[in-house]
Amino acid sequence: MNEQSPLAGKKVVVTGGAGFIGSHLCEELTQLGAEVVSVDDYSAGHARNLEFLAGRPNFRAVRADICDRAAMTPVIAGADVIFHNAASKKNVCLIDPQKDLRVNGGGTLNLLELAREHRVRKFVHASTGSVYGEPVVLPTDEEHPLRPVSYYGVSKLAGERYVDVFHRLYGMDTTILRYFHVYGPRQESNEFGGVVSIFLRNILEGKPLAIFGHGHQERSFTWVKDLVRANLAAATRPESAGRVYNAASGIRVTILELAERMKAMMDADVPIVHQAPLVGDIMHFDVSNERIRRELGIAFERDFWGTLQRSLEEFVGHLRGAVLR
Ligand SMILES: NC(=O)c1ccc[n+]([C@@H]2O[C@H](COP(=O)([O-])OP(=O)(O)OC[C@H]3O[C@@H](n4cnc5c(N)ncnc54)[C@H](O)[C@@H]3O)[C@@H](O)[C@H]2O)c1
Repeated sequence: MNEQSPLAGKKVVVTGGAGFIGSHLCEELTQLGAEVVSVDDYSAGHARNLEFLAGRPNFRAVRADICDRAAMTPVIAGADVIFHNAASKKNVCLIDPQKDLRVNGGGTLNLLELAREHRVRKFVHASTGSVYGEPVVLPTDEEHPLRPVSYYGVSKLAGERYVDVFHRLYGMDTTILRYFHVYGPRQESNEFGGVVSIFLRNILEGKPLAIFGHGHQERSFTWVKDLVRANLAAATRPESAGRVYNAASGIRVTILELAERMKAMMDADVPIVHQAPLVGDIMHFDVSNERIRRELGIAFERDFWGTLQRSLEEFVGHLRGAVLR
């Protein structure tokens, strides 16, 4: 237990705790000595993502839908901080826009109402770079127009707007973090997962690496542990009240480059195949993280290839665990 952390001994709720990013938050918060409650409906998350925390006296996992007010009330009561990471993000196939809105808009509103009712001190909200849509100004900073081009992006923007309204109307201490292309162990490797995990899985299974279109589309890959630090800073730094931040590394890597470098890194002999381009696929990412660096002092990992190489073993371990079950 780290008695130095201002979160030690505090009740913190991580929604989406059994998901990729939520599980990393639960891990760090438990380590810091917070009383951590993970909430997840396991629609996309997995109990195995939290297995290693079982038995820790300051950690518990609750199965609940964030839209379910009755189920969420005892979870939120007495909480000091909510890290809201639960989301419906089956955006890849645009398969269920109603669900995206119900969870990402309605679920967020539900949590905000409960947070207000129970006087929760801080609400840290996970948003996404998808709220910007196709960038019209590069580098994209937080003042960029918000014109999402996916159901997911629209529903996440609805969530953000509710957060902002609660800050403005009731003075709730909120912070919005817009994540971009997060990578790290425990990321989903199915079609809803991230491209790094998908390529890794395909390489391990000896399958081709499929690229939509020419592969020159850029992504701003961000190391999951940096996001954990951004969340902790948002929860504890007074300057973050009412602020929105791009939580992105700012690096730019093309998908083709990723495929080629990952093949080389793993000495893999799998082909790269090009498929039809995705409708609405965003080509250029050049994300400004100046505000979060300046105001919250977050230094993002910029050695993408080195971090990937160093964490490969952990990545592979989790992937094998996930795929073999
Ligand atoms: N991974 C990324 O690159 C990325 C990029 C931008 C934004 N985000 C945002 O970060 C957050 C976490 O994403 P992730 O990548 O860890 O995704 P994830 O799918 O791994 O985690 C989300 C979790 O939310 C849970 N969940 C979904 N609906 C729920 C509901 N109604 N009630 C309770 N739990 C529910 C899922 O079961 C899952 O465990 C999300 O808000 C997402 O929009 C992620």
